Amino acid sequence: MVSNLPSLGVLLWPLALILQPAFSAQYTSTDTATPHDNTGNCTCYVVNSGASSNSPSYFQYYRFFDFRNLADQSGQYVTTPPLVNNSDSAASESVWNANILNSNAWNSDWGIQNWSKPATSDFPTHMVNSPANVFIQQNDDSSDAFTFLTLRTTRLDDFQSASEVENEQKNLMHVSMRMHARVTGSKGAVAGFFTFFDDDNETDVEILTDDPTDTIRYTNQPSVDKDGNEVTTASVTAKQLAPWDEWQTHRIDWLDRNSYWYLNNKQVAANTYSVPRKPSGMTINMWSDGGEWSGNMSVGDSAEFQIQWIEMTFNTSGPVTGTAGGNKRDIELLETRKDKGCKVVCKIDDVQTLGTPEIVSVSRAAEMSVSWGLLVFVGAVALLVGM
Ligand SMILES: *[C@@H]1O[C@H](CO)[C@@H](O)[C@H](O)[C@H]1NC(C)=O
Ligand SMILES: *[C@@H]1O[C@H](CO)[C@@H](O)[C@H](O)[C@H]1NC(C)=O
Ligand SMILES: *[C@@H]1O[C@H](CO)[C@@H](O)[C@H](O)[C@H]1NC(C)=O
Ligand SMILES: *[C@@H]1O[C@H](CO)[C@@H](O)[C@H](O)[C@H]1NC(C)=O
Ligand SMILES: *[C@@H]1O[C@H](CO)[C@@H](O)[C@H](O)[C@H]1NC(C)=O
Ligand SMILES: *[C@@H]1O[C@H](CO)[C@@H](O)[C@H](O)[C@H]1NC(C)=O
Repeated sequence: MVSNLPSLGVLLWPLALILQPAFSAQYTSTDTATPHDNTGNCTCYVVNSGASSNSPSYFQYYRFFDFRNLADQSGQYVTTPPLVNNSDSAASESVWNANILNSNAWNSDWGIQNWSKPATSDFPTHMVNSPANVFIQQNDDSSDAFTFLTLRTTRLDDFQSASEVENEQKNLMHVSMRMHARVTGSKGAVAGFFTFFDDDNETDVEILTDDPTDTIRYTNQPSVDKDGNEVTTASVTAKQLAPWDEWQTHRIDWLDRNSYWYLNNKQVAANTYSVPRKPSGMTINMWSDGGEWSGNMSVGDSAEFQIQWIEMTFNTSGPVTGTAGGNKRDIELLETRKDKGCKVVCKIDDVQTLGTPEIVSVSRAAEMSVSWGLLVFVGAVALLVGM
C-alpha cells in the first residue's frame, strides 16, 4: 500500500501552492528574471470595486513592484543626492543608484523621463524632468531600514527641476493600481499617480502640496474644456482623508465606464465623467509649473514623492508583450497564463502577505487535481501519525 503512494514532495505541492511565501520582485544589478507576479498558478485576479462590495472585477495580469528591500544594509541609502540645479544639463544628468535604477530588470518595466516644457503665460515656470531627481532612499532606522523610490522636484531661480517615471506596459485596458506612498516637502508641488493615453484619456490621483494634508484630488481628464473653463464634474476634491504626508495606500480602479478611487482600501471617490477608453500607460511624477493647478514653489524649495511599492492587476488591449524591452521569461509566463483563462481565481486584497495573491476559487478541471492532492496529503498525514 505504502509503496503505491507518490513521494512526500509530490504530496505536499498543493499545500505549498496555497502557503507559498512571498518572493519579492527585486531589482538587482544581475539580469536574473524577476517575475513580478508572485503567483505561479493564478490565472486571473479578482477585486471588488464600486459602491456595492459584491461587484467583482476580473483581470488577467498581476504585477507587484517592491522597492522596500533594495539595500544590503541599514544606512546605505540615507543620504539625499545633491539637487539638480542646472537647467541646461538637468535632462541629461544620470539617474542615481544606477545599479538598481538602470538595471535591465528595472529598464524592462520602467522608463525614467527627461522631457521639458517651456514657460508660458498660463504656466510661467520652465520645467525640466531630470533622471537625477529619481533615486532610492532608506528609512534611517537600523531596526526598520526599508527602502523606497523617491521622485523629487525643486524650484531653482530659472526653472523647476522635476521627475517622471513611466511603466513600460503601455496597453493597459482597465486596471486596479495601487501604491503605498507619501509626499513630503514644500508647497507648490504636485505628486501624480495616473493612467495616461492623452490629455482626454487620463485618470489621476494628484496630491497638491498646497492642499491641507487631508485633501486629495481625484480627476478624469479633460478637467478644462476647449474654452479653458474648468469642468466641475471632472475632479473630486476629497477631504478629511488620512494624511498624505504619512504612508498610505492609494488606489485607482479604472473600469469600463466607471472610475473609483480608494484610500487604504476605502472608496473615497467615484466618477463616470470621461472614463478613459484608450489603451493607456501608468505614470508617476513630481512637478510644478507655476500654473493655477500646481501653484508656485519658492526658489530653493523641494518636495519628494516617496513610494514603497506599486501593485497592479490589469487587462491589456492586444498582447501583453507590448513592451519593447520586455523580459522574455516574464512574457512567456504571462502568455502561458493567458491561455489558461480564468480557471484559478486569486484575490490580491486581504492576503496574508502583501504582493502574494491567494487562490479563492478553482474551476472544475483544475479543482480536481487540487482536491486530489489534498486528499492524498491527508492520507499521508494519517500515515505519518499512524507511524
Ligand atoms: C504551480 O503548480 C504546479 C503544479 O501544477 C507546481 O509544480 C508549481 O510549484 C506551482 N507554482 C507555485 C509558484 O506554487
Ligand atoms: C478583463 O478581461 C477578461 C477576459 O477578457 C474579462 O472577462 C474581464 O471582464 C476584463 N475585466 C475588465 C475589468 O475589463
Ligand atoms: C545645487 O545647489 C545646492 C545648494 O547650493 C548644492 O548643495 C548642490 O550640491 C548643488 N548641486 C549640484 C549637482 O551641484
Ligand atoms: C534624454 O535622454 C535620452 C536618452 O538617455 C538622451 O538621448 C537625450 O539626449 C536626453 N535629452 C536631453 C534633452 O538631454
Ligand atoms: C479618448 O481619446 C479619443 C481619441 O483621441 C477621444 O475621441 C476621446 O474623446 C477620448 N476620451 C474618452 C473618455 O474617450
Ligand atoms: C507663480 O509666480 C509667477 C511669477 O511670479 C506668477 O506670474 C504666477 O501667477 C504665479 N502662479 C500662481 C498660481 O500664483
